[in-house]
Amino acid sequence: MKVTIVGAGNVGATAADVIASKAIASNIVLLDIKEGFAEGKALDLMQTSSTKGFDSQIIGTTGDYSLTKDSDVVVITSGIPRKPGMTREELIGINANIVKDVTSNILKYSSNPIIVMVSNPMDTMTYLALKSTGLDSKRVIGMGGALDSSRFKTYISLSSKKLQKDIDAMVIGGHGDTTMIPLHRFAKCNNEPLSKISSPEEIENIVKSTMVGGATLTKLLGTSAWYAPGSSIAYLVDCILNDKRKTIPCSILLNGEYNQNDLCIGVPCIIGKNGVEEIIELDLNNDEMNKFNQSADAVRSMNSTLSDHT
Ligand code: NAI
Ligand code: 2OP
Repeated sequence: MKVTIVGAGNVGATAADVIASKAIASNIVLLDIKEGFAEGKALDLMQTSSTKGFDSQIIGTTGDYSLTKDSDVVVITSGIPRKPGMTREELIGINANIVKDVTSNILKYSSNPIIVMVSNPMDTMTYLALKSTGLDSKRVIGMGGALDSSRFKTYISLSSKKLQKDIDAMVIGGHGDTTMIPLHRFAKCNNEPLSKISSPEEIENIVKSTMVGGATLTKLLGTSAWYAPGSSIAYLVDCILNDKRKTIPCSILLNGEYNQNDLCIGVPCIIGKNGVEEIIELDLNNDEMNKFNQSADAVRSMNSTLSDHT
C-alpha cells in the first residue's frame, strides 16, 4: 500500500514516522516544496528502520509528483501552521491556494486516491479539496475530530485519574476553538458515564480545556502541535488501509445528515477501505443540536470566504 504525505513539516514527518513504525503502509512518499527538505526527512526516517524494526520504504522529493503515482491515500499537511495568537481561520488565504495546487498535481498521477485533509482551516480545506477534485465525497476526509477526541480523552484522564485506554469520548463539529463540540453526555469510562465519575464543574473544565487544546499547545510550543496530530493521521490511515471500520469523528460532506447540506464538518464516521463507509447519526439533544447548528453556520461562513481567496 502506498501513502503520499504532502508537506514534510512537523505534522507530515511525524505522520510518516508513525505510519512506518507501525508498518501501516509499505511505501511512503514525503513531498515538500522546500528544496531538499523532504529528501532529508525521508533519509533520517529511513535510518530509524533497523533500530525500530520496520520494513517500509520512505522516499522524499522536492515537488516531483510523478513519485506519488498510484497512491492509495494522500495526506495533505502542506501549508503554514498557526502562530501564537493566530486563529486557524486566518490561515485560509495562503492554505487555500496551496491545497488547490497540491490536489491538481496529485490527480495527475493518482486517479482515485482517498484524501486525508489536515491543513487548516481543516473543514474548509476539506470542502475545497472535495470541490476542486470532484472525487467521491466519501473519499475526501478531514482529520480533526480524531485529534480533538484524543485531547478530550487526555483531559478526562488528567482530571479523573482514569486510564485513557478505558475512556470512550468524542468531539464533533468544526475543528476550531469555538466550533468543536466535546460530547460529554456520551463520554464514558469503562462503560460508566462521565457524569458518574466527574462533577459538573470538572466536566465544564474538561470541555473548556479540550476546546482550546490546540491553542494551549501553540502558546507553549510557539507553533502548533505535531505528535498527537501525526499520530491521529496514522490512526485514520491505518483504518483505511487495513479496513478496520472503526468509528472516528471526521469532517465529511453532509447530504441531509444532521439536517445539513453541502458542508464538510466533523461527525462520527465508520472508516474503512473505501474511506467513509457510513456516517453515524447520533441522537443529539436540543442543546447539542443547537451547538452543532451554530458550528455548521460558522464553518459555512468560513467556506463563503473561499471565493475571496481562490
Ligand atoms: P510546518 O510548517 O511544519 O510544515 C508545513 C510544510 O508544508 C512545510 O515544510 C512547507 O514547506 C510545506 N509546504 C508549503 N507549501 C507547500 C506546497 N505548495 N507543496 C508542498 N509542501 C508545501 O507545519 P505543520 O505544523 O506541519 O502544520 C501543517 C498544517 O497542518 C498547518 O496548516 C496546520 O495548521 C495544520 N494542522 C492541522 C491539524 C488538524 O488536526 N487538522 C493539527 C495540526 C496542524
Ligand atoms: C491543532 O489543533 C492547530 O489544528 C491544529 O493543533
